[in-house]
Amino acid sequence: MTQQTDGATRLWGGRFTGGPAEALARLSVSVQFDWRLAPYDLAASRAHARVLARAGLLDADELGRILAALDDLESACAAGEFRPSVDDEDVHTALERGLLERLGALGGKLRAGRSRNDQVATDLRLYLRERVRGLAGRLAELASALADQAGRHIDTPAPGFTHLQPAQPISFGHQLLAHVQALLRDLDRLRDWDKRAAVSPLGAGALAGSSLPLDPAQVAKELGFDSPAANSIDAVADRDFAAEFLFVAALVGVHLSRLGEEVVIWTTPQFGWVELDDAFATGSSIMPQKKNPDIAELARGKSGRLIGHVAGTLAMLKGLPLAYDRDLQEDKEPVFDAVDTLELVLPAMTGMIATMRVDEERMALDAPRGYTLATEVAEWLVRRGVPFREAHEITGKLVVICTARDCALDEVTDEDLASVSPHLTPDVRSVLSVAGALAARMTPGSTGPGPVSDQLATAAGRIDRWREWAGENVVPR
Ligand code: ARG
Repeated sequence: MTQQTDGATRLWGGRFTGGPAEALARLSVSVQFDWRLAPYDLAASRAHARVLARAGLLDADELGRILAALDDLESACAAGEFRPSVDDEDVHTALERGLLERLGALGGKLRAGRSRNDQVATDLRLYLRERVRGLAGRLAELASALADQAGRHIDTPAPGFTHLQPAQPISFGHQLLAHVQALLRDLDRLRDWDKRAAVSPLGAGALAGSSLPLDPAQVAKELGFDSPAANSIDAVADRDFAAEFLFVAALVGVHLSRLGEEVVIWTTPQFGWVELDDAFATGSSIMPQKKNPDIAELARGKSGRLIGHVAGTLAMLKGLPLAYDRDLQEDKEPVFDAVDTLELVLPAMTGMIATMRVDEERMALDAPRGYTLATEVAEWLVRRGVPFREAHEITGKLVVICTARDCALDEVTDEDLASVSPHLTPDVRSVLSVAGALAARMTPGSTGPGPVSDQLATAAGRIDRWREWAGENVVPR
C-alpha cells in the first residue's frame, strides 16, 4: 500500500508523484459493484496467509494475528461496520485498508506472492460457483412446480400447436413437462459449467507465477477448487467461466420467456385456459376488469438483458491480448446482473406456476377444435392399407366438407364419408375422439397417459437429485 498525499489507500503509487485525476478515479473505481466479492476475497486471503506461513514467510504468531484480523474484518463487513470508502478503488483495496487498520505494517505482508489479477479471477469464480448452486436450487423449484401441475393434468386434453395453429390433441401435463425438460438441460449445463469453473487462479500472481515457494494446489484445495490453473497467463486472462455462465443464464432466460409467452396466451379471455392467482397477477390503473400476467411478461422482457450480457461480454473479451487487461473489470456487472435477474424472476415464475388454476373443461372443449383429429383419420386409413399420400388427400377433402358445414369431423353423415372416399367407412368414427387419440399414443416420450406418467416419474427423480446438488456447499468459508 502507498499512503498517498491525498490520504487515500492505494495498492500502487510508489512511482507516482501525485494522486490520480478525478476523472481517472471515477472511471477506474469498481468498488461500488465488486464489494459483493468481499467474503470471497477474505476466504482467499485466509488460504493465502496459510500458504505464506507454510513457506516460512509468516511466523506462527504473524499468521495467527492475520487470520484473527481477517475474521474480525469479515464480521465487521457482515455487520456493515466496515464499508468501502469513496477512495477505495476496488474490493481488494478496501479490504487491504481494513487489514492495515487492524494490523499496521503486518497487514502489508499478505500481498506477497499475489496480485489483484489472480485475486479478482479467484473471487469471481468463488462467488459464481456458490451462486450457481443457489440458482440451480431455484431452477429445481420451478421445475418442481411445473411437474406438480403436470401431475394434475396428465389426462387433461388440450390442443397442441405448431405455428400456434391447432395441430393435434395433447395432454396438458405433457406440454408442461416439455418446459421441465428445458430446465433439466439448464441444470445439466450449470453442473457442466461448474467442472470448468472449479480451477483456481491463485498463485498466478500478476501473470507469471511467483518466485516465492507458494503452493497453488494447496490453496486450490482449501478454496474448494478441483485443481490449480495449469498456466499462470491463462489463469489471469481467462474469463470463459463468465462467458459460459452468461450463456447458460441467457438460455435460462429464453426458456423462461417461452414459458412466459405461453402463460400470456393461456390467460387471455380468448383462450381462458389458465387463471392466475391474485397474488401472482396485477391489475390495471384504468381498466377495472383487467388481470394481467406481469410476471410472465417481465420474465419474457428480462430475457433481453440476459442475452445482451453474453454479447457484451464476448465483445469485451474478443480483442484482448494476454494476460490481464483492465477491460476485464467489465466482466463483473453483467455476471452480477444475470445472477440478480434470475434470482428475481425464478421465484416469481415458480409462485405463478404453482398457484395457477387450469380450466380443464374449457381446454377439453378446445382440444378437438380446428380439426386436430384429422391426423387420426389419415393414420386410420394407413392402417387399412391406404398409402399415406392418398390418406392425407382424402382427409383434407373431409375437412373441406366439415368447414363448409361448420361441423366437427365426427358430425358428417355416412353418405358424406362415402362421397369423399370408399375407404371412409363409418368405422372411422372409432378414432374420432380426443381421449382415443391420446390413449393411442403409447410410444415413450409421446403424449399418451402412460408415457406422460413415466416421463413425470423420471423427471421428478431428476429434480430431487438436482435439489441435492444445489444444496452442496462448494466454497468452504
Ligand atoms: N478491479 C480490478 C478488476 O476488476 C482488479 C484487478 C486490477 N488489476 C490491475 N492490474 N489494475 O479487474
